[in-house]
Amino acid sequence: MKVLIATEKPFAPAAIEQIKPIFDKAGYELELLEKYTDKSQLLEKVADADALIIRSDKITKEVIEAANNLKIVVRAGAGYDNVDLNAATEKGIVVMNTPGQNSNAVAELALGLMVYMARGMFNGKPGTELKGKTLGIHAYGNVGRLVAKIAKGFGMQVSAFDPFIPKEKIEDEGVKVYESAEELYSNNQYVSLHIPANEKTKNSINYELLNKMPNGATLVNTARKEVVDENDLVKLLNERTDFKYVSDIAPTNADELLGKFPAQCFFTPKKMGAQTAEANINAGVAAANQIVNFIENGDITFKVNR
Ligand code: 3PG
Repeated sequence: MKVLIATEKPFAPAAIEQIKPIFDKAGYELELLEKYTDKSQLLEKVADADALIIRSDKITKEVIEAANNLKIVVRAGAGYDNVDLNAATEKGIVVMNTPGQNSNAVAELALGLMVYMARGMFNGKPGTELKGKTLGIHAYGNVGRLVAKIAKGFGMQVSAFDPFIPKEKIEDEGVKVYESAEELYSNNQYVSLHIPANEKTKNSINYELLNKMPNGATLVNTARKEVVDENDLVKLLNERTDFKYVSDIAPTNADELLGKFPAQCFFTPKKMGAQTAEANINAGVAAANQIVNFIENGDITFKVNR
């Protein structure tokens, strides 16, 4: 059994140290393809792999077709919009994620980005504090609820909108619930995005919604760039010098935004949310265990394709 870890953005060495013994014990061979720069390297290595661990690496139909023995792909992380699920299903390949394993790292970064913007990107001038400010959490999943918990520690007033989670479950955690995205954006100085990227959510964070945010608003994106309508963002930033956008995933039009609105935008140079040793260990070890459990016992608990 050959397992390939293909990570353009590699795991911390400490994670590999903990992943390797799991496969050694199972008697599986492990191959690493890290920091690859060309798709052809992935196509070559995946050819004889039985199992694959990835992060945000793009697993397209072409990659799936190049894999002759592949049985399972585990996205060590939450979002699996980088995997062509239909192509995998067609070939009988199981796709899984490792929900919750890297959530704390992403949640901490969301708060870090808020502090960075509240302090004027550390420009030396007086900024503002998070204490007492309103924060709306758009989607109350694993990351959203941790953001809520940490933000309460800062003294923020936290609310959320998530049509897929029962209202009482969110309220039980001391978080106010809004019934619509419009209400959430209208009532919060900060909004933190935690929605996945899919056909329904792409470009859904548009001018109409963002313009409902109060004066001095900040949109924080540690989710996916595709969910924000980038043309609408330019229009809004042009009209509202009070509005700020901070993202862990640089938009396609990052150069334009940074050129025109340098005091209103900040983007991390590379997606940093899950880039901690802890998150890499948690997600990587979970992925390895899920592969062994699937191969040995047929366990499909974390399967995401139908
Ligand atoms: C996720 O979906 O788990 C996060 O976006 C992290 O992605 P990464 O593994 O590429 O850092």
